Amino acid sequence: AWVVYGAVKPSYEAPVELRQVHPAPPASLKVYNKTFDLATLENPVRNDILETLAKDRDAGWGKYRESVAAGRDIYYQNCFYCHGDLLDGKGHYAHGFSPQPINFQDPTIIPQLQEAFLFWRITTGGPGLPVEGTPWNSAMPVWHEMLAENDVWNVINFIFDYNGQVPRIWDPEVSKTVSGMKDEVLARRKNIMGRDLYRFRCEVCHGEQGAGDGVAADFMYPRPRDFSLALFKYKTSPGTELPRDEDLFNTIKMGLPGTAMPGWGLQGRALLSDEQIRSLIPVIKGFDITQAWPPEDADEDAFDDDGFYTKTDFRVIKDVEPLNGQIAYSEEPIEKGKAAFRKSCSECHGMDGRGNIRSGKKLEDDWGNRIWPRDLTKPWTWRATQSLDTTEKERDETVKAIYTRLSIGIPGTPMPAHRAVEEGNQDPVILEDRWHIANYVYTACGKPPCNPRMDRWSAAGNWKPNCRQVWMTSAGKRRRR
Ligand code: HEC
Ligand code: HEC
Ligand code: HEC
Repeated sequence: AWVVYGAVKPSYEAPVELRQVHPAPPASLKVYNKTFDLATLENPVRNDILETLAKDRDAGWGKYRESVAAGRDIYYQNCFYCHGDLLDGKGHYAHGFSPQPINFQDPTIIPQLQEAFLFWRITTGGPGLPVEGTPWNSAMPVWHEMLAENDVWNVINFIFDYNGQVPRIWDPEVSKTVSGMKDEVLARRKNIMGRDLYRFRCEVCHGEQGAGDGVAADFMYPRPRDFSLALFKYKTSPGTELPRDEDLFNTIKMGLPGTAMPGWGLQGRALLSDEQIRSLIPVIKGFDITQAWPPEDADEDAFDDDGFYTKTDFRVIKDVEPLNGQIAYSEEPIEKGKAAFRKSCSECHGMDGRGNIRSGKKLEDDWGNRIWPRDLTKPWTWRATQSLDTTEKERDETVKAIYTRLSIGIPGTPMPAHRAVEEGNQDPVILEDRWHIANYVYTACGKPPCNPRMDRWSAAGNWKPNCRQVWMTSAGKRRRR
């Protein structure tokens, strides 16, 4: 009776199974109404490129670039949610999965694999895994149902190209040619700057002309910034002034957590050097069609037919939002800050800053997209206002950043400026109260410091805010941390 009871008793636990990470593929694979012999299967797109290359170098490279570009579009329309905007396995959904999506940047994974293996894994996904790969819990979708055969080969080419790696190829001659191509790609990419760099790393989201309409743009929210209007959210210059170069630099270097905007210079895994990041700033300014970035006395002839400024002597903003009158952080100002916060901010951010809007309004940004006030009790979801420091300076820097942000507001969004934008006007919130509010907002998460924004992910790859939070385990159970 006990055995029967044990056998029929329902269980919500995942069965314990040992998982083999890269299990051996089956001998053959049936997809696209064809049978592929995995022992001999080669990437037909790559073969075509190699054949063309042997006859005509330029045509071969042209085909290569076409395939990589097509694969890039496939990747950002289908794979980046899980495998990450930087292909590092840290997509928005990644921490909800066990096993986690594969990190394509890891040099110990992708270069060890053959393209036939990847073709099998991509076309059949989690359900295609053999028993030793515990197929039941892999979130990897079955792509042969959604992508054409060539799409899969192109995305494979893109993944290798993006990371400057090559697949494992048995034939030594072919392997040599492919490695030679890789070396050439890497050499060309080594000191890539400015517009070329933009095309390589940013265009897929921000679009060819910076209008925020890249092929991946429709698949993300908030949408990538449209640079043509010269409107930027996260800046430290006063009022409605354009951002300082430092602001743009920091956004590109650190990314905007909680959005698809990656951090390109994050410590330990920087894809771009500081010099490369700096070279992108004039590119961004050059996309402006509102004549905001060119110098005031710019020559009419310097604009092309589409309204783009063709010179590079763009304005550089030096003004910084003043930080005078700071009120030291202590218990009593927190109480004052709370009261001032409830008066000036609770309409949008809620009585305790949880982002539960009280006005009942549906907010919209300047581009007509729905937008929500931030949850101020979860600073790890903020885009830019957390200090990057981990020492005692963290508090002072974060408080100053909150002060700056609330004084300027967030341009392009309903979040208003709380210091008078025009000289001579009265400040919507007086200086003293703005500092009180900044001190209070710093404590809104409970026990600060709450995950100083060093990095979206800790070095170990786990997401570790140190405030208490409820999170879901892979089995769907709620657990407090
Ligand atoms: C819903 C999330 C999700 C999406 C979307 C997704 N993947 Fe995956 N992928 C995973 C997970 C989770 C794993 C790890 C578990 C496994 O191996 O099945 C994985 C594994 C893989 C692997 C296996 C690598 C190996 O070494 O075994 C490849 C290759 C891969 N994904 C490619 C892609 C491509 C290409 C796309 C887009 C066309 C894509 N994935 C989209 C979640 C996803
Ligand atoms: C995977 C998509 C993606 C890629 C690739 C990407 N971005 Fe972004 N970027 C975004 C999104 C989404 C936003 C808007 C976030 C928001 O509104 O909060 C953004 C915003 C920005 C902003 C505006 C910041 C502000 O204060 O308003 C700048 C500047 C920027 N990106 C520069 C770049 C540069 C330079 C590159 C290439 C090195 C790049 N981005 C690559 C998605 C991307
Ligand atoms: C009219 C509505 C509104 C009011 C009033 C308002 N905010 Fe906001 N706030 C927003 C919205 C919307 C966002 C999110 C913008 C986005 O996602 O681009 C935001 C974002 C923020 C952020 C996040 C910045 C980041 O880096 O992510 C902070 C901090 C903030 N608000 C503080 C305040 C404070 C303090 C006050 C009162 C002085 C205030 N806000 C008043 C609408 C408002």
